[in-house]
Amino acid sequence: MTKLIHTYAQFPIEPVDGHDYHLIDKNGKEYVDLTAGIGVCNLGYSNQPVKDAVKKQIDHVWHISNLYENSKAEEVAEKLCPAGYLAFFCNSGTEANEAAMKLARKDTGKSKIVAFNYGFHGRTYGSLSMTGYPHIKDGFQALVPDIQFEEYNDDASLAAITADTAAVILEVVQGEGGVNVGNKEWLQAVQAKCHETNTLLIVDEVQSGMGRTGYKFAFEQFDLQPDIITVAKGLANGLPVGAMLAKESVAKAFQPGDHGNTFGGNKVVMASASAVLDQLNPEFLKTVQAKGDKLAELLNAEILPLDHVKNITGKGLMIGIHLTDDVKVGDVIKTLQDNGVLTLSARGNTLRLLPPLIIDEAALKDAVAKIKQAIG
Ligand SMILES: Cc1ncc(COP(=O)(O)O)c(C=O)c1O
Repeated sequence: MTKLIHTYAQFPIEPVDGHDYHLIDKNGKEYVDLTAGIGVCNLGYSNQPVKDAVKKQIDHVWHISNLYENSKAEEVAEKLCPAGYLAFFCNSGTEANEAAMKLARKDTGKSKIVAFNYGFHGRTYGSLSMTGYPHIKDGFQALVPDIQFEEYNDDASLAAITADTAAVILEVVQGEGGVNVGNKEWLQAVQAKCHETNTLLIVDEVQSGMGRTGYKFAFEQFDLQPDIITVAKGLANGLPVGAMLAKESVAKAFQPGDHGNTFGGNKVVMASASAVLDQLNPEFLKTVQAKGDKLAELLNAEILPLDHVKNITGKGLMIGIHLTDDVKVGDVIKTLQDNGVLTLSARGNTLRLLPPLIIDEAALKDAVAKIKQAIG
């Protein structure tokens, strides 16, 4: 009998060990992992530079509180922030979005936020309130007020962005929402309307960032310059972390006492993040782009023609395979588990793939063959 509150429908598999892009369960069965802990362990399960950095920091202080200077956090901010941005560290994606919401309201003096249907931003009240799934909000009302939902990729949404709007929040590739890729022209139009109305643009890169699409931030492919960027998941390859990055002109709205948390910038976590960012260099990102192209080619040739597949969407190594209603994504996931491959789902009967970015092409090819068999 479990002593855990039943918030997750868990699979009867317990991974206890791992290496590269493989996980090994408590019975010794080995899996090829196409989940990366939901887009977290992007450098896999045995990344030596991350291990070394964490072990080194463990021999010094682990936690010092944010009342003292923190050169490790400075180091990570330096490596993570685009030029002209400052960082605030926290412990998760939802906290990064909470910080973004508060900063946007403080900086603009306005309260209205425009968010999108099937955008996912987290489970704490601010982030949950900006999340565009009615069913995950059921039972938790009253939510944070003054948040308006619009249709993603729809020009009609632009009318909602007015001089009263503090911020627009969006993912350039909606992850949980079904791996929906933003339309470049629409994203550009949203940004232009934000500029016209003095509205801040918040881009949630929690799932799409940290190399997942072959770029440090996925928004780079859409020529956007968000006012606020949120990241988490892959930043520390498995240690809990979140960060809000804001343009300096916006970040200055936060002064001592306005926001904070106990663990943000934790030295062990920052040591890991610093080692991750060192590896997320242009050469590495090019390898991810090449693998993304190869995977797209394989999926278009092998999976898209299948009768039970409606469509395949995504960017880089963030992929959604949209299944017809007569096949249940849960059954496909189970069959793949039996055949030694771990996968995820997303909204709308979608099989989602978020493999560690270090996976090799031969493993992708083998996994695609197993996916074909499972869907077939
Ligand atoms: C785009 C996006 N934002 C925010 C979150 C919430 O992150 P966390 O679970 O770390 O709070 C998630 C989690 O899946 C996400 O995909």
